Amino acid sequence: MRGEAPVWQAPWGDVYVTKYDLVSACLVNRQLSHVPPSGGADTSGQRSAINDWLMYQEGHAHTTIRQALQRPFAGKGVSALAPVVAEAVELLVSRAAFSGTVDVVAAFTRAVPERVICRVLGVPAEDMPMLRAWSASIRAILDTGFDDAFGLGASAAEEMSIYFIELLRELLAQGEMPPLLVGLPALVEEMGLTVAGRNIAFLAFAGHETTVHLLGNMLFHLTHAPAQWEALRSNRHLALNAVTETLRMESPVQKICRWPLQQIELDGREIAAGQLVVLLVGAANRDPAQFADPARFDLARPGRQNLAFGRGAHVCIGRALAEMEGKLLLEAMLQRWKSMEPTADEAKWMDNSSIRGLERLALRLG
Ligand code: HEM
Repeated sequence: MRGEAPVWQAPWGDVYVTKYDLVSACLVNRQLSHVPPSGGADTSGQRSAINDWLMYQEGHAHTTIRQALQRPFAGKGVSALAPVVAEAVELLVSRAAFSGTVDVVAAFTRAVPERVICRVLGVPAEDMPMLRAWSASIRAILDTGFDDAFGLGASAAEEMSIYFIELLRELLAQGEMPPLLVGLPALVEEMGLTVAGRNIAFLAFAGHETTVHLLGNMLFHLTHAPAQWEALRSNRHLALNAVTETLRMESPVQKICRWPLQQIELDGREIAAGQLVVLLVGAANRDPAQFADPARFDLARPGRQNLAFGRGAHVCIGRALAEMEGKLLLEAMLQRWKSMEPTADEAKWMDNSSIRGLERLALRLG
Protein backbone atom coordinates (compact mmCIF):
# COMPACT_ATOMS: atom_id res chain seq x y z
CA MET A 1 0.00 0.00 0.00
CA ARG A 2 2.76 2.43 0.99
CA GLY A 3 4.53 1.98 -2.36
CA GLU A 4 1.52 1.83 -4.65
CA ALA A 5 -1.30 3.71 -2.98
CA PRO A 6 -0.01 5.67 0.03
CA VAL A 7 -3.44 7.34 0.25
CA TRP A 8 -5.94 4.57 -0.43
CA GLN A 9 -9.70 4.86 -0.34
CA ALA A 10 -11.24 1.51 0.56
CA PRO A 11 -14.44 0.37 -1.20
CA TRP A 12 -16.23 0.94 2.13
CA GLY A 13 -15.16 4.62 2.08
CA ASP A 14 -12.46 4.90 4.76
CA VAL A 15 -9.15 6.39 3.66
CA TYR A 16 -5.85 4.79 4.72
CA VAL A 17 -2.57 6.74 4.80
CA THR A 18 0.71 4.84 5.05
CA LYS A 19 3.72 6.97 3.99
CA TYR A 20 5.76 8.62 6.76
CA ASP A 21 5.70 12.16 5.31
CA LEU A 22 1.97 12.04 4.67
CA VAL A 23 1.10 10.57 8.07
CA SER A 24 3.38 13.07 9.77
CA ALA A 25 1.78 16.01 7.89
CA CYS A 26 -1.75 14.74 8.63
CA LEU A 27 -0.99 14.57 12.37
CA VAL A 28 -0.43 18.36 12.44
CA ASN A 29 -3.05 19.31 9.84
CA ARG A 30 -5.72 21.38 11.63
CA GLN A 31 -8.20 20.66 8.83
CA LEU A 32 -8.32 17.10 10.11
CA SER A 33 -10.49 17.00 13.18
CA HIS A 34 -10.32 14.72 16.22
CA VAL A 35 -14.07 14.92 16.69
CA PRO A 36 -15.99 12.22 14.81
CA PRO A 37 -18.97 13.54 12.82
CA SER A 38 -21.19 11.24 14.88
CA GLY A 39 -19.74 12.79 18.05
CA GLY A 40 -21.63 14.92 20.49
CA ALA A 41 -25.01 14.25 21.96
CA ASP A 42 -27.46 11.69 20.57
CA THR A 43 -31.14 12.54 20.00
CA SER A 44 -31.93 12.15 23.69
CA GLY A 45 -29.14 14.59 24.57
CA GLN A 46 -26.81 11.92 26.04
CA ARG A 47 -23.14 11.58 25.18
CA SER A 48 -21.30 8.28 25.43
CA ALA A 49 -18.22 8.10 27.66
CA ILE A 50 -15.78 7.80 24.76
CA ASN A 51 -17.12 11.04 23.26
CA ASP A 52 -15.67 12.85 26.26
CA TRP A 53 -12.18 11.35 26.00
CA LEU A 54 -9.42 13.93 25.55
CA MET A 55 -8.26 12.23 22.34
CA TYR A 56 -11.57 13.10 20.64
CA GLN A 57 -11.75 16.78 21.68
CA GLU A 58 -10.88 20.02 19.93
CA GLY A 59 -10.61 23.67 21.00
CA HIS A 60 -11.39 24.77 24.54
CA ALA A 61 -12.46 21.33 25.80
CA HIS A 62 -9.20 19.85 24.53
CA THR A 63 -7.06 22.58 26.10
CA THR A 64 -8.84 22.36 29.45
CA ILE A 65 -8.75 18.58 29.78
CA ARG A 66 -5.20 18.31 28.45
CA GLN A 67 -3.92 20.90 30.92
CA ALA A 68 -5.43 18.91 33.78
CA LEU A 69 -4.16 15.51 32.64
CA GLN A 70 -0.64 16.62 31.81
CA ARG A 71 -0.02 18.51 35.05
CA PRO A 72 1.83 15.58 36.69
CA PHE A 73 4.25 15.46 33.73
CA ALA A 74 5.15 19.15 33.78
CA GLY A 75 8.70 20.17 34.69
CA LYS A 76 10.42 17.49 36.72
CA GLY A 77 7.07 15.88 37.55
CA VAL A 78 7.84 12.63 35.84
CA SER A 79 10.83 11.94 38.08
CA ALA A 80 8.37 11.77 41.01
CA LEU A 81 6.86 8.72 39.29
CA ALA A 82 10.23 6.94 39.08
CA PRO A 83 10.06 5.30 42.56
CA VAL A 84 6.63 3.83 41.72
CA VAL A 85 7.97 2.31 38.49
CA ALA A 86 11.17 1.10 40.16
CA GLU A 87 9.22 -0.58 42.97
CA ALA A 88 6.93 -2.43 40.52
CA VAL A 89 9.85 -3.58 38.36
CA GLU A 90 11.94 -4.71 41.30
CA LEU A 91 9.11 -6.63 42.92
CA LEU A 92 8.07 -8.49 39.76
CA VAL A 93 11.58 -9.24 38.47
CA SER A 94 12.77 -10.51 41.85
CA ARG A 95 9.75 -12.81 42.10
CA ALA A 96 10.68 -14.72 38.91
CA ALA A 97 12.90 -17.81 39.05
CA PHE A 98 16.62 -17.49 38.21
CA SER A 99 16.27 -19.86 35.30
CA GLY A 100 13.57 -21.55 33.29
CA THR A 101 10.79 -20.73 30.87
CA VAL A 102 8.63 -17.77 31.79
CA ASP A 103 5.62 -16.19 30.07
CA VAL A 104 7.07 -12.70 30.29
CA VAL A 105 3.76 -11.06 29.33
CA ALA A 106 2.03 -12.41 32.44
CA ALA A 107 5.12 -12.05 34.65
CA PHE A 108 6.36 -8.58 33.64
CA THR A 109 5.18 -6.82 30.54
CA ARG A 110 1.51 -6.73 31.56
CA ALA A 111 2.12 -6.84 35.29
CA VAL A 112 4.46 -3.82 35.52
CA PRO A 113 2.22 -1.24 33.74
CA GLU A 114 -0.84 -2.59 35.56
CA ARG A 115 0.78 -2.18 38.94
CA VAL A 116 2.10 1.27 38.03
CA ILE A 117 -1.22 2.59 36.71
CA CYS A 118 -3.10 1.35 39.79
CA ARG A 119 -0.60 3.08 42.06
CA VAL A 120 -0.60 6.41 40.23
CA LEU A 121 -4.40 6.53 39.88
CA GLY A 122 -5.19 5.33 43.40
CA VAL A 123 -6.92 2.12 42.24
CA PRO A 124 -6.87 -0.65 44.90
CA ALA A 125 -4.86 -3.68 43.69
CA GLU A 126 -7.88 -5.99 44.09
CA ASP A 127 -9.75 -3.98 41.42
CA MET A 128 -7.07 -4.62 38.79
CA PRO A 129 -8.81 -7.67 37.24
CA MET A 130 -11.83 -5.45 36.56
CA LEU A 131 -9.64 -2.83 34.91
CA ARG A 132 -8.01 -5.55 32.83
CA ALA A 133 -11.35 -6.85 31.59
CA TRP A 134 -12.60 -3.34 30.70
CA SER A 135 -9.35 -2.63 28.90
CA ALA A 136 -9.66 -5.80 26.82
CA SER A 137 -13.22 -4.85 25.79
CA ILE A 138 -12.23 -1.30 24.84
CA ARG A 139 -9.30 -2.68 22.84
CA ALA A 140 -11.76 -4.81 20.91
CA ILE A 141 -14.14 -1.87 20.33
CA LEU A 142 -11.27 0.23 18.96
CA ASP A 143 -10.43 -2.58 16.56
CA THR A 144 -13.22 -3.40 14.14
CA GLY A 145 -16.19 -1.88 15.94
CA PHE A 146 -14.70 1.61 15.79
CA ASP A 147 -17.94 3.35 14.74
CA ASP A 148 -19.80 1.70 17.64
CA ALA A 149 -17.28 3.16 20.08
CA PHE A 150 -19.08 6.50 19.96
CA GLY A 151 -22.52 5.02 20.56
CA LEU A 152 -24.00 4.41 23.98
CA GLY A 153 -23.57 0.66 23.47
CA ALA A 154 -19.87 0.70 24.36
CA SER A 155 -20.65 -0.59 27.83
CA ALA A 156 -17.09 -1.32 29.04
CA ALA A 157 -16.20 2.36 28.67
CA GLU A 158 -19.44 3.36 30.44
CA GLU A 159 -18.88 0.93 33.33
CA MET A 160 -15.26 1.92 33.67
CA SER A 161 -16.28 5.59 33.75
CA ILE A 162 -18.84 4.99 36.50
CA TYR A 163 -16.12 3.26 38.53
CA PHE A 164 -13.75 6.24 38.11
CA ILE A 165 -16.43 8.86 38.76
CA GLU A 166 -17.08 7.12 42.11
CA LEU A 167 -13.35 6.84 42.85
CA LEU A 168 -12.90 10.53 42.05
CA ARG A 169 -15.81 11.46 44.31
CA GLU A 170 -14.13 9.58 47.20
CA LEU A 171 -10.70 11.08 46.51
CA LEU A 172 -12.13 14.60 46.42
CA ALA A 173 -13.88 13.98 49.73
CA GLN A 174 -10.58 12.80 51.26
CA GLY A 175 -8.82 15.85 49.81
CA GLU A 176 -5.72 14.00 48.65
CA MET A 177 -5.01 13.14 45.02
CA PRO A 178 -2.79 10.28 43.78
CA PRO A 179 0.18 11.35 41.60
CA LEU A 180 -1.52 11.22 38.18
CA LEU A 181 -4.66 13.04 39.31
CA VAL A 182 -3.26 16.25 40.78
CA GLY A 183 -4.90 18.31 38.02
CA LEU A 184 -8.33 16.72 38.46
CA PRO A 185 -9.93 19.01 41.09
CA ALA A 186 -9.51 21.95 38.67
CA LEU A 187 -11.04 19.89 35.87
CA VAL A 188 -14.04 18.94 38.01
CA GLU A 189 -14.59 22.61 38.74
CA GLU A 190 -14.44 23.56 35.07
CA MET A 191 -16.16 20.63 33.35
CA GLY A 192 -17.90 18.62 36.06
CA LEU A 193 -17.43 15.22 37.70
CA THR A 194 -18.69 13.14 34.76
CA VAL A 195 -16.26 14.52 32.16
CA ALA A 196 -13.42 14.33 34.70
CA GLY A 197 -14.21 10.73 35.70
CA ARG A 198 -14.54 9.64 32.07
CA ASN A 199 -11.11 11.07 31.38
CA ILE A 200 -9.57 9.18 34.28
CA ALA A 201 -10.99 6.05 32.66
CA PHE A 202 -9.30 7.15 29.42
CA LEU A 203 -6.04 7.75 31.27
CA ALA A 204 -6.29 4.31 32.87
CA PHE A 205 -6.76 2.69 29.44
CA ALA A 206 -4.31 4.82 27.40
CA GLY A 207 -1.79 4.88 30.24
CA HIS A 208 -1.24 1.16 30.52
CA GLU A 209 -2.67 -0.86 27.60
CA THR A 210 -0.13 0.77 25.25
CA THR A 211 2.86 0.39 27.57
CA VAL A 212 2.06 -3.30 28.09
CA HIS A 213 2.67 -3.87 24.39
CA LEU A 214 5.73 -1.65 24.17
CA LEU A 215 7.39 -3.86 26.82
CA GLY A 216 6.31 -7.16 25.27
CA ASN A 217 7.25 -6.14 21.72
CA MET A 218 10.65 -4.99 22.98
CA LEU A 219 11.46 -8.34 24.62
CA PHE A 220 10.24 -10.16 21.50
CA HIS A 221 12.59 -8.23 19.20
CA LEU A 222 15.55 -8.41 21.53
CA THR A 223 15.32 -12.19 21.70
CA HIS A 224 15.15 -12.33 17.91
CA ALA A 225 18.21 -10.12 17.44
CA PRO A 226 20.92 -11.84 19.55
CA ALA A 227 23.64 -9.43 18.43
CA GLN A 228 21.55 -6.51 19.70
CA TRP A 229 20.99 -8.28 23.04
CA GLU A 230 24.77 -8.74 23.36
CA ALA A 231 25.35 -5.08 22.46
CA LEU A 232 22.92 -4.13 25.20
CA ARG A 233 24.63 -6.41 27.72
CA SER A 234 27.95 -4.73 27.11
CA ASN A 235 26.50 -1.23 27.06
CA ARG A 236 23.41 -0.82 29.23
CA HIS A 237 23.14 2.82 28.27
CA LEU A 238 21.54 1.51 25.10
CA ALA A 239 18.38 0.53 27.02
CA LEU A 240 16.51 3.66 25.92
CA ASN A 241 17.55 3.00 22.29
CA ALA A 242 15.88 -0.42 22.60
CA VAL A 243 12.68 1.29 23.73
CA THR A 244 12.79 3.81 20.86
CA GLU A 245 13.58 1.20 18.23
CA THR A 246 10.70 -0.96 19.46
CA LEU A 247 8.31 1.99 19.27
CA ARG A 248 9.37 2.50 15.67
CA MET A 249 9.44 -1.07 14.49
CA GLU A 250 6.48 -2.57 16.37
CA SER A 251 4.41 0.50 17.23
CA PRO A 252 1.91 -0.39 20.00
CA VAL A 253 -0.60 2.12 18.55
CA GLN A 254 -0.98 1.19 14.89
CA LYS A 255 -3.72 3.55 13.78
CA ILE A 256 -4.81 7.08 14.58
CA CYS A 257 -8.12 8.42 13.24
CA ARG A 258 -9.10 11.84 11.93
CA TRP A 259 -12.11 13.37 10.13
CA PRO A 260 -11.71 16.26 7.57
CA LEU A 261 -13.68 19.37 8.52
CA GLN A 262 -14.15 20.16 4.82
CA GLN A 263 -13.11 18.52 1.55
CA ILE A 264 -9.32 18.25 1.46
CA GLU A 265 -6.65 17.05 -0.95
CA LEU A 266 -4.18 14.42 0.19
CA ASP A 267 -1.38 13.41 -2.17
CA GLY A 268 -3.50 14.47 -5.16
CA ARG A 269 -6.68 12.72 -3.96
CA GLU A 270 -9.83 14.46 -2.86
CA ILE A 271 -11.23 13.35 0.47
CA ALA A 272 -14.75 14.36 1.45
CA ALA A 273 -15.60 16.14 4.70
CA GLY A 274 -16.42 13.75 7.52
CA GLN A 275 -14.74 10.76 5.84
CA LEU A 276 -12.78 8.57 8.28
CA VAL A 277 -9.04 9.02 7.61
CA VAL A 278 -6.93 6.29 9.22
CA LEU A 279 -3.27 7.17 9.73
CA LEU A 280 -1.34 3.90 9.80
CA VAL A 281 1.49 4.83 12.14
CA GLY A 282 2.98 1.33 12.10
CA ALA A 283 3.40 1.52 8.32
CA ALA A 284 4.83 5.05 8.46
CA ASN A 285 7.40 3.95 11.03
CA ARG A 286 8.63 1.28 8.62
CA ASP A 287 8.79 3.59 5.59
CA PRO A 288 12.11 2.80 3.83
CA ALA A 289 12.26 6.39 2.59
CA GLN A 290 12.86 7.41 6.23
CA PHE A 291 14.36 4.35 7.90
CA ALA A 292 16.94 2.32 5.98
CA ASP A 293 16.35 -1.44 6.11
CA PRO A 294 13.22 -0.77 8.20
CA ALA A 295 12.48 -4.39 9.20
CA ARG A 296 15.85 -4.64 10.97
CA PHE A 297 15.86 -4.06 14.74
CA ASP A 298 18.85 -1.76 15.18
CA LEU A 299 19.84 -0.15 18.47
CA ALA A 300 22.29 2.15 16.70
CA ARG A 301 19.76 3.45 14.19
CA PRO A 302 20.29 7.14 13.52
CA GLY A 303 17.74 9.46 12.04
CA ARG A 304 14.28 10.71 12.26
CA GLN A 305 11.82 10.73 15.07
CA ASN A 306 9.30 7.92 14.81
CA LEU A 307 5.60 8.72 15.04
CA ALA A 308 4.64 6.17 17.69
CA PHE A 309 3.45 8.84 20.15
CA GLY A 310 1.74 10.94 17.48
CA ARG A 311 2.65 14.58 16.77
CA GLY A 312 1.20 18.04 17.18
CA ALA A 313 -1.44 19.32 19.59
CA HIS A 314 -2.53 15.81 20.64
CA VAL A 315 0.93 14.27 21.01
CA CYS A 316 0.98 11.67 23.80
CA ILE A 317 1.28 13.15 27.28
CA GLY A 318 2.57 9.92 28.86
CA ARG A 319 5.64 9.35 26.72
CA ALA A 320 8.16 9.92 29.52
CA LEU A 321 6.36 7.45 31.79
CA ALA A 322 6.14 4.75 29.09
CA GLU A 323 9.82 5.17 28.23
CA MET A 324 10.76 5.02 31.89
CA GLU A 325 8.87 1.74 32.34
CA GLY A 326 10.63 0.25 29.28
CA LYS A 327 14.08 1.37 30.36
CA LEU A 328 13.78 0.30 34.00
CA LEU A 329 12.32 -3.11 33.15
CA LEU A 330 15.08 -3.80 30.64
CA GLU A 331 17.83 -2.68 33.00
CA ALA A 332 16.45 -4.91 35.76
CA MET A 333 16.23 -7.92 33.44
CA LEU A 334 19.80 -7.37 32.18
CA GLN A 335 20.94 -7.24 35.76
CA ARG A 336 19.23 -10.51 36.73
CA TRP A 337 19.65 -12.69 33.64
CA LYS A 338 22.58 -13.30 31.29
CA SER A 339 20.52 -14.87 28.56
CA MET A 340 17.01 -14.51 27.26
CA GLU A 341 16.09 -16.84 24.43
CA PRO A 342 12.99 -17.69 22.42
CA THR A 343 11.35 -21.09 22.90
CA ALA A 344 9.55 -23.15 20.27
CA ASP A 345 6.03 -21.76 19.82
CA GLU A 346 6.95 -18.89 22.11
CA ALA A 347 4.76 -16.04 20.92
CA LYS A 348 1.04 -15.45 20.47
CA TRP A 349 0.22 -12.08 18.90
CA MET A 350 -3.14 -10.41 19.59
CA ASP A 351 -5.66 -10.18 16.80
CA ASN A 352 -6.26 -6.42 16.76
CA SER A 353 -5.80 -3.74 14.09
CA SER A 354 -5.39 -0.80 16.50
CA ILE A 355 -3.08 -2.13 19.17
CA ARG A 356 -0.10 -4.29 18.23
CA GLY A 357 1.12 -6.60 20.92
CA LEU A 358 1.49 -10.04 22.42
CA GLU A 359 -0.91 -12.16 24.40
CA ARG A 360 1.85 -14.51 25.43
CA LEU A 361 5.64 -14.62 25.10
CA ALA A 362 7.39 -17.62 26.59
CA LEU A 363 11.14 -17.01 26.94
CA ARG A 364 13.93 -19.09 28.42
CA LEU A 365 15.71 -17.00 31.03
CA GLY A 366 19.04 -18.00 32.48
C1 HEM B 1 4.09 2.98 24.66
C2 HEM B 1 3.15 3.64 25.25
C3 HEM B 1 2.27 4.66 24.57
C4 HEM B 1 2.01 4.86 23.24
C5 HEM B 1 2.57 4.10 22.05
C6 HEM B 1 1.08 5.96 23.16
C7 HEM B 1 0.60 6.49 21.96
C8 HEM B 1 -0.20 7.61 21.87
C9 HEM B 1 -0.59 8.25 20.63
C10 HEM B 1 -0.21 7.77 19.24
C11 HEM B 1 -1.35 9.32 20.95
C12 HEM B 1 -1.92 10.36 19.97
C13 HEM B 1 -3.34 10.04 19.54
C14 HEM B 1 -3.86 11.04 18.51
O1 HEM B 1 -3.14 11.88 18.00
O2 HEM B 1 -5.06 10.93 18.21
C15 HEM B 1 -1.47 9.35 22.39
C16 HEM B 1 -2.22 10.26 23.10
C17 HEM B 1 -2.39 10.20 24.45
N1 HEM B 1 -1.71 9.40 25.34
FE1 HEM B 1 -0.38 7.98 24.89
N2 HEM B 1 0.79 6.40 24.43
C18 HEM B 1 1.50 5.62 25.32
C19 HEM B 1 1.52 5.75 26.70
C20 HEM B 1 0.76 6.64 27.41
C21 HEM B 1 0.79 6.79 28.85
C22 HEM B 1 1.71 6.01 29.79
C23 HEM B 1 -0.15 7.73 29.15
C24 HEM B 1 -0.55 8.30 30.49
C25 HEM B 1 -0.16 7.93 31.64
C26 HEM B 1 -0.75 8.18 27.91
C27 HEM B 1 -1.74 9.11 27.79
C28 HEM B 1 -2.18 9.68 26.60
C29 HEM B 1 -3.18 10.71 26.54
C30 HEM B 1 -3.96 11.30 27.70
C31 HEM B 1 -3.32 11.05 25.17
C32 HEM B 1 -4.26 12.05 24.54
C33 HEM B 1 -3.57 13.37 24.25
C34 HEM B 1 -4.45 14.35 23.52
O3 HEM B 1 -5.38 13.94 22.83
O4 HEM B 1 -4.19 15.55 23.66
N3 HEM B 1 -0.17 7.49 26.88
N4 HEM B 1 -0.73 8.31 22.93
